[in-house]
Amino acid sequence: MTKLLELYKCNICNNIIEITHEGIGEIICCNKNMELLEEKTPNQEDAHFAHIENIDEITKKIYFNHPMNDEHYIEFIEVISLDNKYIKRKHLKPNETAQLIFKCECKEGFYVRNYCNIHNLNKTNTEAK
Ligand SMILES: [Fe+2]
Repeated sequence: MTKLLELYKCNICNNIIEITHEGIGEIICCNKNMELLEEKTPNQEDAHFAHIENIDEITKKIYFNHPMNDEHYIEFIEVISLDNKYIKRKHLKPNETAQLIFKCECKEGFYVRNYCNIHNLNKTNTEAK
């Protein structure tokens, strides 16, 4: 049984998928079960921790002090409202800035995930401000 917004990775071809509708079936790629990516919760000193800056009343900047080179970089950032109704995702390439600017209309709060090409999935819990 899958859960909304879970991420699965194929350890053979590196496909990554996100669940947008829950179901009871197995998630298969390259004839093998895909791996459910576990969310790690980094502390503030960790490069995968999401820092948040308020730009104005509703605009926020999410950024990471993380390398962004060819060997090690954040592939995407997601901001997800706590009720899972809203999601904003930004895909990144090496040498780009590891940041996402968005307008926060999720008064109930949100959390941030990122996927690093080496350290996989990370989650930072936040509070709506
Ligand atoms: Fe990393």
